[in-house]
Amino acid sequence: MTAPRADALVLFGATGDLAKKKLFPALYHLAASGNLEVPVIGVAKSDWDDEGLRHYAHSAVEAAVHPVDEAAFGRLAARLSLVCGDYGDRGCFDRLASALSKAGSSHPVHYLAIPPTLFPTVVEGLASVGLNHGARVVVEKPFGRDLASARKLNTVLHRAFHEPAIFRIDHYLGKEPVEDLLVFRFANSFLEPIWNRLHVKNVEITMAEAFGVEGRGAFYDDVGAIRDVVQNHLLQVITLLAMEPPVRDDADSLRDEKVKVLKAMPAIDPSSVVRGQYEGYQSEPGVASESTTETYVALRFEIESWRWAGVPWFVRAGKGLATTALEATVELCPPPRLLFMGEGGHEPGPNLLRFRLGTDDGVSLWVQAKSPGRHDVTHPVELAVDFAAALGARQEAYERLLLDALEGDPRRFAREDMVEEAWRIVQPALDNPGPVYPYERGCWGPAEADALIPGVAWHEPEAKGTRAR
Ligand code: BG6
Repeated sequence: MTAPRADALVLFGATGDLAKKKLFPALYHLAASGNLEVPVIGVAKSDWDDEGLRHYAHSAVEAAVHPVDEAAFGRLAARLSLVCGDYGDRGCFDRLASALSKAGSSHPVHYLAIPPTLFPTVVEGLASVGLNHGARVVVEKPFGRDLASARKLNTVLHRAFHEPAIFRIDHYLGKEPVEDLLVFRFANSFLEPIWNRLHVKNVEITMAEAFGVEGRGAFYDDVGAIRDVVQNHLLQVITLLAMEPPVRDDADSLRDEKVKVLKAMPAIDPSSVVRGQYEGYQSEPGVASESTTETYVALRFEIESWRWAGVPWFVRAGKGLATTALEATVELCPPPRLLFMGEGGHEPGPNLLRFRLGTDDGVSLWVQAKSPGRHDVTHPVELAVDFAAALGARQEAYERLLLDALEGDPRRFAREDMVEEAWRIVQPALDNPGPVYPYERGCWGPAEADALIPGVAWHEPEAKGTRAR
């Protein structure tokens, strides 16, 4: 790693929602583990003083952590200060420059936890006072709203920062179980011989959320599920499951292989997309009364590579569904000849390798075993590992990503070509959105999504506590 370690963290949007929900709790954890060694300078359009920001940070930490270790919070508070001003006003950046110089910083990380419409203003403001030099910039999602706007945003960023200094956040890349896909595949040798079109029948990825838009109606209504979670989070999960082993253990070798997967994916055929909207969505605050934004989407992707040609990749994501779960299920091909029938004379179910990528994370392999009794019939059993039990506590995604940004490690961040390829893939679904089917809250989305996978069934993620252990 050649990038210098950062000597300050500048938090644009320090009084905003993301800072409150994710960034302050993550900074608190870093302070608690002794990993926060730099000043944190919040920037916001506000009339608070430093104490006001510390108070806000404390309430954010209290909402996320029980109980709060006040000594650890004190270490964060001692590093916190606030620069107030309008991002459109040069004076705001002059004050930031003097705060950084007072802190002795020459390699800050600028974290843009602000609405995307403000990215260009802030990037230009930083460049106007030279605060782009020797600095990195962390850009929150959504990174554009389609291919054209993502390209435009990349151009704006490149006017002030060179590509290695641009860290595009996708917090799924900071999730331990998501990163485990890479380790599970390439630190074990048993999987490789079957990890291809000859042995894998299909792959399904489900991102289900039992809750609705929860106060984010105005943001969400302009975005929808495809932009919110498919273009970024779920395509990233596909790349980790489908990529070739990187030739070396550096960030670009890893990202090169991920980009190759995206390049091998044709732009989606709109007839392979089913959109849904939960009933009652149009009455959510901030949502248009006749909105056609999707709160659910199911899609069928293809990867035209030697490894994956012909294997369908089914993805579904939605809010207001039956449960909250994030799971990738790989279904293996059946044995060439069925010697044993399953119980009740049915064909035995397939071997399933299930990666649970959400809070209840772990891996399980469903196999057929002999059912007790005189007859050779099969019964499905699960070989399972629960990561919390096996591995203990893990860091939260934002904590890991903040530390990476401070240390200058880009491996868990999206590169320019990655985001643009991902937009290319989903673009036809944005251009030709098709109908949006209503579904009741608490179900598995519109029935029309079943037609997307004829002869296959969506695998329902198992609720926590009901799995065989
Ligand atoms: C965000 C989306 O990026 O990811 C939200 O904007 C979604 O709509 C969230 O709820 C899911 O993240 P996680 O970490 O809870 O799976």
